[in-house]
Amino acid sequence: MRRAPAKARSTRASLPPSRSVKDEDVENMSGAMLLQAGALAGRIADRIGLSIAASRKEAAVSAIGRVMARRGLNHVSDLLGQIDADEDLKEEFIDELTVGETHFFRGAAQFDLIRDTILPERCRSRLIGSPLRIWSLGCASGEEPYSLAILCEADNLSSRVEITASDISRKALSDAAEAEYGEWSLRNTGECWRQRYFLRSGSRYRVRPDLARRVTLTKVALGADVLPAPQIGLADFDLILCRNVLVYLDAAAVHRIARQLFTCLVKGGWLMTAPTDPPLWKYAPFETSITSAGAVYRRAVSGRERPADDRP
Ligand SMILES: C[S@@+](CC[C@H](N)C(=O)[O-])C[C@H]1O[C@@H](n2cnc3c(N)ncnc32)[C@H](O)[C@@H]1O
Repeated sequence: MRRAPAKARSTRASLPPSRSVKDEDVENMSGAMLLQAGALAGRIADRIGLSIAASRKEAAVSAIGRVMARRGLNHVSDLLGQIDADEDLKEEFIDELTVGETHFFRGAAQFDLIRDTILPERCRSRLIGSPLRIWSLGCASGEEPYSLAILCEADNLSSRVEITASDISRKALSDAAEAEYGEWSLRNTGECWRQRYFLRSGSRYRVRPDLARRVTLTKVALGADVLPAPQIGLADFDLILCRNVLVYLDAAAVHRIARQLFTCLVKGGWLMTAPTDPPLWKYAPFETSITSAGAVYRRAVSGRERPADDRP
């Protein structure tokens, strides 16, 4: 039998012995136990390329307990021993530790801003023949990038735009590739748009295949992967949407990611987060505008980029 590394064995003591941790165990943990369990959650998250905001450590401990229970693992050391070699186990954790909630045209004011200001401005700036590049980061099951594809189609821009969508979760990307949705995903989408851009089958709606094909799906672990990555097309974006992702990550990861996303933009490119995401203006030399759709960040069109505040 494989021996558990000494460090992993010492963490076992922080969790109830002889069985996996469950929700009620987490509720009964003392502050010190929770701290240790939270540190363990952080270690597991590190191994799968995730970071976890301090406020979500308790939820992460419960999530770890659920995976252990499903897998019949009694000790954290067994889990740590398996996680590097077992891709399915990693994916199970990713799906337990992340939140995949999304819907079409989420944050309607932001889509208005994209349609009325950002797309026209970027179309003017891009040379004819050079595609306008959009990246939906943390795309979950695909509603966000397909909303962008629909918006571009409605504005006759489809042929000028390339849309990349990425997520850390294999399951999310496979759902996005299916491009088929129920009523809940379309709660912000009117009947006219449903008829025009979806194929309906009973209570299910499939994104029109010609629109779905406009979105390229790719797996990216934000915070762990090196960015920009021009060799795989992850650079020179006119617009990046990274909404409702950073709110779940720890402060150090947010700092690192903000700098990476800044350098993934073309000069004059825009970055949008969600109103509930942490502010990014101090981490990279963004030009920040506060709009009715929330904060929007931009890489300056020209001139020297002012140094950002280095503090995490
Ligand atoms: C709440 S959903 C947001 C979906 C969409 N952006 C929206 O605003 O509706 C968050 C998504 O971010 C993904 N995610 C979380 N951490 C990530 C990371 N480090 N790298 C890439 N994707 C991540 C999750 O898998 C999940 O699908």
